[in-house]
Amino acid sequence: MGFPAQRPRRLRSTPAMRRLVSETEVRPRQLVLPMFVREGATEPVPISSMPGVVQHSRDSLRKAVAEAASAGVGGVMLFGVPETHDATGSGALDPDGVLNVALRDVRSEVGDDLVVMSDLCLDEFTDHGHCGVLGPDGDVDNDATLELYARMGVEQARAGAHLVGPSGMMDGQVGVIRSALDDAGFTGTGILAYTVKYASAFYGPFREAVNSQLSGDRRTYQQDGGNAREALRELELDLGEGADMVMVKPALAYLDVLARVADAADVPVAAYQISGEYAMIEAAVANGWLDRDRTILETLTSIRRAGADVVLTYWATEAASWLD
Ligand code: PBG
Repeated sequence: MGFPAQRPRRLRSTPAMRRLVSETEVRPRQLVLPMFVREGATEPVPISSMPGVVQHSRDSLRKAVAEAASAGVGGVMLFGVPETHDATGSGALDPDGVLNVALRDVRSEVGDDLVVMSDLCLDEFTDHGHCGVLGPDGDVDNDATLELYARMGVEQARAGAHLVGPSGMMDGQVGVIRSALDDAGFTGTGILAYTVKYASAFYGPFREAVNSQLSGDRRTYQQDGGNAREALRELELDLGEGADMVMVKPALAYLDVLARVADAADVPVAAYQISGEYAMIEAAVANGWLDRDRTILETLTSIRRAGADVVLTYWATEAASWLD
């Protein structure tokens, strides 16, 4: 009789058995909640392409951060939505700009109970929507942008960021921000580098979330979706420049890249489950096509299994409450 010699099903036989042998855990402390705060808002403003996510007012931001902390979430990543935009994104450098004000609010609310992070990029603040300043040829001027990033990093550190998150994909950004922080005395402020960031269609809903002014795309600075080896080059550069943590983004469409980066990195690795990943699941759920909680947990588990120590997800607070 040809009965199977090996029976992997034995280890799947009961919930207790499956729990005992599960290789991958998702814990609330590993989740980071990205949050938007809108200058001048008196009420939270819904983001239609991200049902359940809002542009916060200062008050609602404080409340939501306190909820995240009590749910056991590991951190928050703040994005500012300014009222006015200009060519150089000057609101990003203003100590009273929306993001810096939000950082101070959040730190006064949660102190050190959460890791407070800030997006360090100009696209939310520029009137052309690019991640840096434009040169005469209309392309983003890398080195002119670096000077602004350096100053922006210092303002964010001063406002209370534990980790700044440069997301603009300018060459050398981690290094210049590190030296600027050190020179200004912020040697203890860390850098979560958006090390591997692809020019992705999945950022679509984020454009609405930050009222982005962008027309065109970011292909001259974000990576081409077909390239994986290049991710390892970016990793090496960012580690050399002093990144404390590195990130891969988007998550689900790039799990292979995440796994390679996690293998090679000797610092914690984060992955960002971005706006489009959120929107597509919420849309399918709204149509009754997917089971919401199971789908969300499955994606978070996959991102962890691929090697992420930390996962940025718009479901962080909610998922944390189920995971406990
Ligand atoms: C740039 C930035 C973006 C996101 C995070 N930081 C947008 C972009 O690069 O186009 C996207 C996050 C998301 O889609 O959820 N400041």
